[in-house]
Amino acid sequence: MLDSYGRRIDYLRISLTDKCNLRCSYCLPHGVKLVPMEDLLTLEEIAAIVRCGAGLGIDRIRLTGGEPLVRRGLPELMAMLQGIEGLKEVAMTTNGLLLRQYLPMLKERGLKSVNISLDTLDAEIYRQITGYDGLQEVLAAIDAALSAGLKVKVNAVLMAGINADSYKDLAGLAKAQPLDVRFIELMPIGEGRHFKGVSNEALLQDLERDFGRPERDDRIHGNGPARYYRIPGFQGSIGFISAMHRKFCGSCNRIRLTAMGELKPCLCYDTAVDLRTLLRTRGEAALPEAIRQAVARKPEAHCFETADHITEQRRMASIGG
Ligand code: 5AD
Ligand code: SF4
Repeated sequence: MLDSYGRRIDYLRISLTDKCNLRCSYCLPHGVKLVPMEDLLTLEEIAAIVRCGAGLGIDRIRLTGGEPLVRRGLPELMAMLQGIEGLKEVAMTTNGLLLRQYLPMLKERGLKSVNISLDTLDAEIYRQITGYDGLQEVLAAIDAALSAGLKVKVNAVLMAGINADSYKDLAGLAKAQPLDVRFIELMPIGEGRHFKGVSNEALLQDLERDFGRPERDDRIHGNGPARYYRIPGFQGSIGFISAMHRKFCGSCNRIRLTAMGELKPCLCYDTAVDLRTLLRTRGEAALPEAIRQAVARKPEAHCFETADHITEQRRMASIGG
């Protein structure tokens, strides 16, 4: 599918649930109200949307959340997805806490790559950000995923005064292990509005000082918004997703399905097409037109730099980080 700016849309991110077994302060703090079960898309509805999307040229999907591994029935969903014609890749973004447990099932059902969210290697700062003493389990999950032959990316969000100094240890993961570490600039979405991010430009300079000059690496790493660099002596690359300081909207290839079944053309705006209601009232036949409509409504770019233009009010966990 092409959108009205000529961009090819072939990638769908799916939030399986807004629930999470962590409470990261910038994402899903304590005391938030979660969506009732009946308002979530069922697994069959998710599979129907993916099937229809695949028919329209969506050939890669990413399961995210909240935390996708807390969604009940995930093995059944993975099995349904495996049989969908035209779908080339199913990836996942997880906080890693339940990954070791599910790894054999995920491998068996075709998962090839996983993004693991980890914002620090300091156990105390980890606990402070997430509300849970889980650093060792996440590190063990990274090792297990690599050993199982999955491609691994670590996603880190840095916040001034909280974990900004963790960048060096995090980058060091890509030295010690064959994985990519990506720094995602904090976006002013949901709780993120209450924290101050760190600019990737400043971070690149810090990395140069610590590790030597990073070299631009334009090999294809998957066609997302990250810009990659190689540092001499590192096994993996360092990626920068500079949502705030370098707009990548010109090459945007994605749409997002929220846990409640709204199809969102852009993270920044509350524009969405309600696929859940449509499916429950008119059935699967109504989907292709609705998906095309969402793609047609994709804006040219996000507006994160002008906070009062952002119309999306919901938290990242329900719209799919
Ligand atoms: N800005 C940037 N990234 C965010 N995430 C959650 N909230 C934000 C935000 N406001 C990220 C998490 C995780 C992924 C699911 O989304 O760090 O890596
Ligand atoms: Fe859960 Fe990820 Fe949000 Fe943390 S950032 S609360 S791990 S969804």
